[in-house]
Amino acid sequence: KVLVGTQNIEDDPRNWIRLGAYLSTNLPKGKDYQLPSLDNVVQKELALGWGLASYQFQRFKTNKNETSRSSLVVDKDLSSKLESEIAAVSFSRDLVNTPSNELRPSHLSAIAEDLAKQYGLTCNVIIGDDLLTKNFPMIHAVGKGSDDAPRLIELRGGSGKNKVTIVGKAVCFDTGGYDIKPSNGMRNMKKDMGGGALSLGLTKWLCEEKLDISFRVLIPAVENRISDKAFLPGDIIKTRLGKFVEIDNTDAEGRLVLCDALAAASEEDTDMIIDFATLTGACRVALGPDMPGFFTGNDSWANDLQALSFECKDPVWRLPLWRPYFNMLKSGPADLVNSASSGFAGAITAALYLKEFVKDASKWMHFDTYCWSDDSKPGTPQGADTQALRAVFSFLEKKFRS
Ligand code: BES
Ligand code: ZN
Ligand code: ZN
Repeated sequence: KVLVGTQNIEDDPRNWIRLGAYLSTNLPKGKDYQLPSLDNVVQKELALGWGLASYQFQRFKTNKNETSRSSLVVDKDLSSKLESEIAAVSFSRDLVNTPSNELRPSHLSAIAEDLAKQYGLTCNVIIGDDLLTKNFPMIHAVGKGSDDAPRLIELRGGSGKNKVTIVGKAVCFDTGGYDIKPSNGMRNMKKDMGGGALSLGLTKWLCEEKLDISFRVLIPAVENRISDKAFLPGDIIKTRLGKFVEIDNTDAEGRLVLCDALAAASEEDTDMIIDFATLTGACRVALGPDMPGFFTGNDSWANDLQALSFECKDPVWRLPLWRPYFNMLKSGPADLVNSASSGFAGAITAALYLKEFVKDASKWMHFDTYCWSDDSKPGTPQGADTQALRAVFSFLEKKFRS
Protein backbone atom coordinates (compact mmCIF):
# COMPACT_ATOMS: atom_id res chain seq x y z
CA LYS A 1 0.00 0.00 0.00
CA VAL A 2 1.08 3.53 -0.72
CA LEU A 3 0.05 6.30 1.57
CA VAL A 4 0.09 9.70 -0.11
CA GLY A 5 0.20 13.03 1.66
CA THR A 6 -0.30 16.31 -0.15
CA GLN A 7 -0.52 19.90 0.80
CA ASN A 8 -2.18 22.93 -0.75
CA ILE A 9 -4.38 20.98 -3.13
CA GLU A 10 -6.61 24.07 -3.27
CA ASP A 11 -3.84 26.37 -4.53
CA ASP A 12 -4.23 25.04 -8.04
CA PRO A 13 -7.43 23.30 -9.17
CA ARG A 14 -5.26 21.03 -11.34
CA ASN A 15 -3.40 19.58 -8.39
CA TRP A 16 -5.16 16.20 -8.47
CA ILE A 17 -4.07 15.84 -12.11
CA ARG A 18 -0.54 16.85 -11.12
CA LEU A 19 -0.55 14.41 -8.21
CA GLY A 20 -1.59 11.56 -10.52
CA ALA A 21 1.25 12.47 -12.86
CA TYR A 22 3.71 12.72 -10.00
CA LEU A 23 2.74 9.30 -8.64
CA SER A 24 3.03 7.68 -12.03
CA THR A 25 6.62 8.85 -12.43
CA ASN A 26 7.75 8.46 -8.82
CA LEU A 27 6.25 5.25 -7.45
CA PRO A 28 8.31 2.06 -7.82
CA LYS A 29 8.07 0.87 -11.44
CA GLY A 30 6.76 -2.28 -13.01
CA LYS A 31 3.74 -2.69 -10.77
CA ASP A 32 -0.04 -2.41 -11.11
CA TYR A 33 -1.58 0.13 -8.78
CA GLN A 34 -5.19 0.66 -7.79
CA LEU A 35 -6.88 3.64 -6.20
CA PRO A 36 -8.89 3.31 -3.04
CA SER A 37 -12.53 4.30 -3.36
CA LEU A 38 -12.49 8.01 -3.94
CA ASP A 39 -14.74 10.75 -5.15
CA ASN A 40 -15.34 10.16 -8.91
CA VAL A 41 -13.86 13.47 -9.96
CA VAL A 42 -10.72 12.97 -7.90
CA GLN A 43 -10.36 9.46 -9.29
CA LYS A 44 -10.75 10.68 -12.87
CA GLU A 45 -8.23 13.47 -12.38
CA LEU A 46 -5.64 11.26 -10.72
CA ALA A 47 -5.99 8.76 -13.55
CA LEU A 48 -5.84 11.47 -16.21
CA GLY A 49 -2.64 12.86 -14.70
CA TRP A 50 -1.22 9.35 -14.48
CA GLY A 51 -1.85 8.87 -18.20
CA LEU A 52 -0.66 12.31 -19.28
CA ALA A 53 2.64 11.76 -17.48
CA SER A 54 3.60 9.11 -20.01
CA TYR A 55 3.89 11.77 -22.75
CA GLN A 56 7.42 12.35 -23.99
CA PHE A 57 8.55 13.96 -27.23
CA GLN A 58 11.57 11.89 -28.22
CA ARG A 59 11.55 11.95 -32.00
CA PHE A 60 14.83 13.84 -32.11
CA LYS A 61 16.63 12.03 -29.29
CA THR A 62 19.18 9.47 -30.43
CA ASN A 63 19.02 7.72 -27.09
CA LYS A 64 15.37 7.28 -26.25
CA ASN A 65 14.42 7.21 -22.64
CA GLU A 66 12.70 3.83 -22.20
CA THR A 67 11.45 4.13 -18.65
CA SER A 68 9.38 1.15 -17.63
CA ARG A 69 5.99 2.33 -16.49
CA SER A 70 3.59 1.26 -13.83
CA SER A 71 -0.08 0.91 -14.63
CA LEU A 72 -2.97 2.33 -12.78
CA VAL A 73 -5.87 -0.08 -12.92
CA VAL A 74 -9.22 1.68 -13.25
CA ASP A 75 -12.57 0.41 -14.46
CA LYS A 76 -13.01 -0.18 -18.19
CA ASP A 77 -15.35 2.71 -18.93
CA LEU A 78 -13.03 5.23 -17.36
CA SER A 79 -9.91 3.79 -18.92
CA SER A 80 -11.33 3.76 -22.44
CA LYS A 81 -12.56 7.36 -22.11
CA LEU A 82 -9.19 8.44 -20.76
CA GLU A 83 -7.35 6.63 -23.51
CA SER A 84 -9.03 8.67 -26.24
CA GLU A 85 -8.52 11.87 -24.24
CA ILE A 86 -4.82 11.21 -23.69
CA ALA A 87 -4.33 10.11 -27.30
CA ALA A 88 -5.92 13.36 -28.55
CA VAL A 89 -3.78 15.51 -26.25
CA SER A 90 -0.60 13.62 -27.20
CA PHE A 91 -1.37 13.84 -30.91
CA SER A 92 -1.81 17.63 -30.71
CA ARG A 93 1.30 17.99 -28.56
CA ASP A 94 3.42 16.02 -31.05
CA LEU A 95 2.31 18.30 -33.88
CA VAL A 96 3.15 21.46 -31.93
CA ASN A 97 6.49 20.11 -30.68
CA THR A 98 7.62 19.09 -34.15
CA PRO A 99 9.94 21.78 -35.47
CA SER A 100 9.04 23.78 -38.56
CA ASN A 101 11.61 22.09 -40.79
CA GLU A 102 9.73 18.82 -40.26
CA LEU A 103 6.23 20.25 -40.10
CA ARG A 104 5.64 22.39 -43.14
CA PRO A 105 2.19 22.89 -44.72
CA SER A 106 2.82 19.85 -46.95
CA HIS A 107 3.61 17.68 -43.90
CA LEU A 108 0.49 18.86 -42.12
CA SER A 109 -1.75 18.02 -45.05
CA ALA A 110 -0.14 14.56 -45.29
CA ILE A 111 -0.88 14.04 -41.59
CA ALA A 112 -4.50 15.10 -42.11
CA GLU A 113 -4.75 12.64 -45.01
CA ASP A 114 -3.41 9.84 -42.79
CA LEU A 115 -5.93 10.71 -40.10
CA ALA A 116 -8.67 10.60 -42.75
CA LYS A 117 -7.52 7.14 -43.86
CA GLN A 118 -7.36 5.86 -40.30
CA TYR A 119 -10.90 6.95 -39.43
CA GLY A 120 -12.65 6.88 -42.81
CA LEU A 121 -12.99 10.65 -43.14
CA THR A 122 -13.02 12.52 -46.41
CA CYS A 123 -10.10 14.85 -46.98
CA ASN A 124 -9.72 17.54 -49.59
CA VAL A 125 -6.73 19.87 -49.89
CA ILE A 126 -6.60 23.04 -52.01
CA ILE A 127 -2.97 23.93 -52.77
CA GLY A 128 -1.03 26.93 -54.10
CA ASP A 129 -2.57 28.80 -57.06
CA ASP A 130 -5.73 26.70 -56.79
CA LEU A 131 -6.43 28.81 -53.71
CA LEU A 132 -6.86 31.75 -56.10
CA THR A 133 -9.14 29.95 -58.53
CA LYS A 134 -11.21 28.57 -55.63
CA ASN A 135 -11.37 32.04 -54.03
CA PHE A 136 -9.16 31.82 -50.94
CA PRO A 137 -7.05 34.89 -51.74
CA MET A 138 -5.96 35.66 -48.18
CA ILE A 139 -4.65 32.16 -47.47
CA HIS A 140 -2.72 32.44 -50.72
CA ALA A 141 -1.40 35.94 -49.95
CA VAL A 142 -0.03 35.03 -46.52
CA GLY A 143 1.55 31.77 -47.68
CA LYS A 144 2.91 32.72 -51.11
CA GLY A 145 6.27 33.81 -49.67
CA SER A 146 7.17 30.19 -48.94
CA ASP A 147 8.42 27.47 -51.29
CA ASP A 148 6.15 25.03 -49.42
CA ALA A 149 2.83 26.03 -50.95
CA PRO A 150 0.01 27.38 -48.78
CA ARG A 151 -3.05 25.17 -48.58
CA LEU A 152 -6.49 24.73 -47.13
CA ILE A 153 -7.04 21.32 -45.56
CA GLU A 154 -10.64 20.16 -45.28
CA LEU A 155 -11.86 17.05 -43.45
CA ARG A 156 -15.39 15.74 -43.05
CA GLY A 157 -16.68 12.94 -40.88
CA GLY A 158 -19.28 11.72 -38.45
CA SER A 159 -22.92 11.11 -39.25
CA GLY A 160 -24.68 12.70 -36.29
CA LYS A 161 -27.43 15.27 -36.64
CA ASN A 162 -25.59 18.26 -35.14
CA LYS A 163 -23.30 20.03 -37.58
CA VAL A 164 -20.08 21.35 -36.07
CA THR A 165 -17.42 23.19 -38.07
CA ILE A 166 -13.92 23.37 -36.62
CA VAL A 167 -11.40 25.90 -37.93
CA GLY A 168 -7.72 26.04 -36.91
CA LYS A 169 -4.95 28.51 -37.62
CA ALA A 170 -1.93 26.58 -38.87
CA VAL A 171 0.89 29.01 -39.49
CA CYS A 172 3.66 26.41 -39.59
CA PHE A 173 6.15 29.15 -38.85
CA ASP A 174 5.49 32.83 -38.16
CA THR A 175 8.52 35.02 -38.84
CA GLY A 176 6.20 38.02 -38.77
CA GLY A 177 6.87 38.50 -42.49
CA TYR A 178 8.35 41.88 -43.46
CA ASP A 179 7.10 43.19 -40.10
CA ILE A 180 9.65 40.77 -38.76
CA LYS A 181 9.51 39.59 -35.17
CA PRO A 182 12.44 40.23 -32.83
CA SER A 183 14.39 37.02 -32.14
CA ASN A 184 12.88 36.31 -28.74
CA GLY A 185 9.37 36.69 -30.16
CA MET A 186 10.19 34.42 -33.12
CA ARG A 187 11.92 31.69 -31.17
CA ASN A 188 8.80 29.63 -30.43
CA MET A 189 6.85 30.32 -33.59
CA LYS A 190 6.91 26.69 -34.70
CA LYS A 191 3.91 26.52 -32.38
CA ASP A 192 1.90 28.98 -34.49
CA MET A 193 0.11 25.99 -36.06
CA GLY A 194 -1.30 25.18 -32.61
CA GLY A 195 -4.85 26.00 -33.69
CA GLY A 196 -4.56 23.44 -36.49
CA ALA A 197 -3.05 20.95 -34.03
CA LEU A 198 -5.98 21.39 -31.62
CA SER A 199 -8.42 20.98 -34.52
CA LEU A 200 -6.81 17.70 -35.56
CA GLY A 201 -6.61 16.50 -31.94
CA LEU A 202 -10.29 17.29 -31.48
CA THR A 203 -11.08 15.50 -34.75
CA LYS A 204 -9.26 12.38 -33.58
CA TRP A 205 -11.08 12.54 -30.25
CA LEU A 206 -14.48 12.91 -31.95
CA CYS A 207 -13.66 9.86 -34.08
CA GLU A 208 -12.86 7.81 -30.98
CA GLU A 209 -15.84 8.94 -28.88
CA LYS A 210 -19.02 8.82 -30.87
CA LEU A 211 -21.05 11.99 -30.31
CA ASP A 212 -24.20 12.93 -32.23
CA ILE A 213 -22.18 15.16 -34.54
CA SER A 214 -21.15 15.45 -38.14
CA PHE A 215 -18.12 17.63 -38.45
CA ARG A 216 -16.27 19.67 -41.02
CA VAL A 217 -12.71 20.77 -40.30
CA LEU A 218 -10.98 23.64 -42.12
CA ILE A 219 -7.27 24.24 -41.56
CA PRO A 220 -5.46 26.96 -43.49
CA ALA A 221 -1.80 25.87 -43.43
CA VAL A 222 0.88 28.36 -44.44
CA GLU A 223 4.32 29.68 -43.56
CA ASN A 224 4.59 33.41 -42.91
CA ARG A 225 7.98 34.12 -44.46
CA ILE A 226 10.11 36.86 -45.96
CA SER A 227 10.94 36.40 -49.64
CA ASP A 228 10.65 38.13 -53.00
CA LYS A 229 7.14 36.68 -53.26
CA ALA A 230 5.91 37.52 -49.78
CA PHE A 231 3.06 39.97 -49.18
CA LEU A 232 3.91 43.48 -48.00
CA PRO A 233 2.67 46.09 -45.54
CA GLY A 234 0.22 48.35 -47.36
CA ASP A 235 -0.97 45.64 -49.78
CA ILE A 236 -4.72 45.63 -50.25
CA ILE A 237 -6.23 42.22 -50.79
CA LYS A 238 -9.82 41.24 -51.55
CA THR A 239 -10.98 38.51 -49.18
CA ARG A 240 -13.18 35.53 -49.99
CA LEU A 241 -16.17 37.42 -48.62
CA GLY A 242 -15.46 40.39 -50.90
CA LYS A 243 -14.29 42.90 -48.31
CA PHE A 244 -10.99 44.63 -49.07
CA VAL A 245 -8.37 44.40 -46.34
CA GLU A 246 -5.35 46.67 -46.09
CA ILE A 247 -2.31 44.97 -44.62
CA ASP A 248 -1.17 47.24 -41.80
CA ASN A 249 1.09 44.57 -40.34
CA THR A 250 2.23 41.31 -41.96
CA ASP A 251 2.60 39.83 -38.47
CA ALA A 252 -1.18 39.91 -37.97
CA GLU A 253 -1.39 37.01 -40.44
CA GLY A 254 -3.47 34.56 -38.41
CA ARG A 255 -6.67 36.56 -38.76
CA LEU A 256 -6.01 36.80 -42.51
CA VAL A 257 -5.86 33.06 -43.13
CA LEU A 258 -8.75 32.54 -40.72
CA CYS A 259 -11.01 35.12 -42.36
CA ASP A 260 -11.21 33.15 -45.61
CA ALA A 261 -11.66 29.87 -43.74
CA LEU A 262 -14.40 31.36 -41.53
CA ALA A 263 -16.16 32.78 -44.59
CA ALA A 264 -16.09 29.31 -46.16
CA ALA A 265 -17.32 27.79 -42.87
CA SER A 266 -20.27 30.21 -42.91
CA GLU A 267 -21.29 29.33 -46.46
CA GLU A 268 -22.64 25.95 -45.39
CA ASP A 269 -25.51 25.37 -43.06
CA THR A 270 -23.93 24.62 -39.65
CA ASP A 271 -25.01 24.64 -36.01
CA MET A 272 -21.69 25.72 -34.57
CA ILE A 273 -18.39 27.13 -35.77
CA ILE A 274 -15.43 26.76 -33.41
CA ASP A 275 -12.06 28.25 -34.22
CA PHE A 276 -8.74 27.77 -32.44
CA ALA A 277 -5.78 30.08 -32.97
CA THR A 278 -2.51 31.19 -31.38
CA LEU A 279 -3.73 34.60 -32.45
CA THR A 280 -2.41 37.40 -30.24
CA GLY A 281 0.29 38.17 -27.73
CA ALA A 282 -2.27 40.54 -26.21
CA CYS A 283 -4.43 37.64 -25.04
CA ARG A 284 -1.42 36.21 -23.23
CA VAL A 285 -0.76 39.54 -21.59
CA ALA A 286 -4.39 39.63 -20.42
CA LEU A 287 -4.80 36.04 -19.20
CA GLY A 288 -1.35 34.49 -19.09
CA PRO A 289 -0.33 31.14 -20.51
CA ASP A 290 -2.87 28.86 -18.78
CA MET A 291 -6.11 30.42 -19.81
CA PRO A 292 -7.23 30.89 -23.40
CA GLY A 293 -9.52 33.81 -24.04
CA PHE A 294 -12.71 32.98 -25.90
CA PHE A 295 -15.29 35.06 -27.72
CA THR A 296 -18.81 34.24 -28.77
CA GLY A 297 -22.10 35.96 -29.52
CA ASN A 298 -23.91 33.18 -27.64
CA ASP A 299 -24.27 33.95 -23.91
CA SER A 300 -25.71 30.59 -23.03
CA TRP A 301 -22.83 28.69 -24.68
CA ALA A 302 -20.40 31.06 -23.00
CA ASN A 303 -21.79 30.36 -19.55
CA ASP A 304 -21.93 26.60 -20.06
CA LEU A 305 -18.47 26.42 -21.54
CA GLN A 306 -16.88 28.59 -18.92
CA ALA A 307 -18.36 26.49 -16.09
CA LEU A 308 -17.44 23.18 -17.76
CA SER A 309 -13.91 24.36 -18.46
CA PHE A 310 -13.33 24.98 -14.77
CA GLU A 311 -14.92 21.63 -13.90
CA CYS A 312 -12.58 19.75 -16.22
CA LYS A 313 -9.59 21.84 -15.10
CA ASP A 314 -8.88 23.27 -18.54
CA PRO A 315 -10.06 26.80 -17.79
CA VAL A 316 -11.02 29.28 -20.49
CA TRP A 317 -12.19 32.85 -19.92
CA ARG A 318 -14.68 34.85 -21.94
CA LEU A 319 -13.64 38.23 -23.34
CA PRO A 320 -16.08 40.68 -24.89
CA LEU A 321 -16.78 41.38 -28.56
CA TRP A 322 -16.90 45.08 -27.65
CA ARG A 323 -18.16 46.70 -30.84
CA PRO A 324 -16.92 50.27 -30.22
CA TYR A 325 -13.33 49.03 -30.64
CA PHE A 326 -14.09 48.09 -34.22
CA ASN A 327 -13.19 51.73 -34.96
CA MET A 328 -9.58 50.78 -34.44
CA LEU A 329 -9.71 48.68 -37.62
CA LYS A 330 -10.63 51.56 -39.95
CA SER A 331 -8.62 51.81 -43.15
CA GLY A 332 -8.06 54.86 -45.35
CA PRO A 333 -8.09 53.22 -48.77
CA ALA A 334 -9.79 49.86 -47.97
CA ASP A 335 -12.72 48.47 -45.95
CA LEU A 336 -10.62 47.58 -42.93
CA VAL A 337 -7.05 47.01 -41.80
CA ASN A 338 -5.78 43.74 -40.37
CA SER A 339 -4.10 45.28 -37.34
CA ALA A 340 -5.46 47.96 -35.03
CA SER A 341 -4.01 51.43 -34.81
CA SER A 342 -3.72 51.15 -31.03
CA GLY A 343 -2.09 48.38 -29.02
CA PHE A 344 -4.99 48.39 -26.55
CA ALA A 345 -7.38 45.42 -26.45
CA GLY A 346 -5.41 43.48 -29.07
CA ALA A 347 -7.21 40.19 -28.43
CA ILE A 348 -10.58 41.92 -28.79
CA THR A 349 -9.75 43.78 -31.99
CA ALA A 350 -8.45 40.51 -33.49
CA ALA A 351 -11.74 38.81 -32.55
CA LEU A 352 -13.76 41.73 -33.96
CA TYR A 353 -11.82 41.40 -37.21
CA LEU A 354 -12.75 37.68 -37.39
CA LYS A 355 -16.38 38.39 -36.54
CA GLU A 356 -16.70 40.41 -39.76
CA PHE A 357 -16.34 37.15 -41.70
CA VAL A 358 -18.73 34.96 -39.71
CA LYS A 359 -22.37 34.95 -40.78
CA ASP A 360 -23.91 34.47 -37.35
CA ALA A 361 -21.79 35.22 -34.25
CA SER A 362 -24.34 33.47 -32.03
CA LYS A 363 -23.21 30.19 -33.64
CA TRP A 364 -19.50 30.97 -33.36
CA MET A 365 -16.85 30.52 -30.68
CA HIS A 366 -13.30 31.77 -31.12
CA PHE A 367 -10.41 30.61 -28.91
CA ASP A 368 -7.20 32.61 -28.62
CA THR A 369 -4.83 30.09 -27.03
CA TYR A 370 -1.15 29.68 -26.21
CA CYS A 371 -0.53 26.00 -27.03
CA TRP A 372 2.63 26.04 -24.96
CA SER A 373 3.92 25.46 -21.47
CA ASP A 374 7.02 27.46 -20.66
CA ASP A 375 7.96 25.33 -17.68
CA SER A 376 7.64 21.68 -16.69
CA LYS A 377 5.00 20.52 -14.24
CA PRO A 378 4.04 16.88 -13.54
CA GLY A 379 1.99 15.77 -16.58
CA THR A 380 2.83 18.93 -18.56
CA PRO A 381 6.43 18.89 -19.75
CA GLN A 382 7.96 22.09 -21.09
CA GLY A 383 6.83 22.51 -24.70
CA ALA A 384 3.54 21.95 -26.48
CA ASP A 385 0.37 22.19 -24.46
CA THR A 386 -3.28 21.97 -25.52
CA GLN A 387 -5.12 24.69 -23.58
CA ALA A 388 -8.85 24.74 -24.54
CA LEU A 389 -8.90 21.27 -26.15
CA ARG A 390 -10.30 19.39 -23.15
CA ALA A 391 -12.69 22.24 -22.32
CA VAL A 392 -14.16 22.23 -25.82
CA PHE A 393 -14.51 18.46 -25.93
CA SER A 394 -16.26 18.51 -22.59
CA PHE A 395 -18.66 21.17 -23.91
CA LEU A 396 -19.42 19.18 -27.07
CA GLU A 397 -19.83 15.99 -25.07
CA LYS A 398 -22.32 17.60 -22.72
CA LYS A 399 -24.33 19.05 -25.59
CA PHE A 400 -24.15 16.26 -28.12
CA ARG A 401 -23.58 12.95 -26.31
CA SER A 402 -25.63 10.43 -28.33
N1 BES B 1 1.33 34.22 -33.72
C1 BES B 1 1.28 35.55 -33.26
C2 BES B 1 0.62 35.69 -31.88
C3 BES B 1 1.33 35.09 -30.70
C4 BES B 1 2.57 35.56 -30.30
C5 BES B 1 0.68 34.16 -29.94
C6 BES B 1 3.16 35.04 -29.17
C7 BES B 1 1.26 33.64 -28.82
C8 BES B 1 2.52 34.09 -28.44
C9 BES B 1 0.45 36.42 -34.19
O1 BES B 1 0.51 36.08 -35.53
C10 BES B 1 0.98 37.82 -34.06
O2 BES B 1 2.12 38.02 -34.36
N2 BES B 1 0.15 38.72 -33.58
C11 BES B 1 0.53 40.08 -33.36
C12 BES B 1 -0.60 40.95 -33.82
C13 BES B 1 -0.23 42.40 -33.94
C14 BES B 1 0.75 42.60 -35.09
C15 BES B 1 -1.50 43.18 -34.20
C16 BES B 1 0.78 40.28 -31.85
O3 BES B 1 0.08 39.68 -31.06
O4 BES B 1 1.72 41.01 -31.54
ZN1 ZN C 1 2.15 36.96 -36.58
ZN1 ZN D 1 0.89 34.08 -35.97
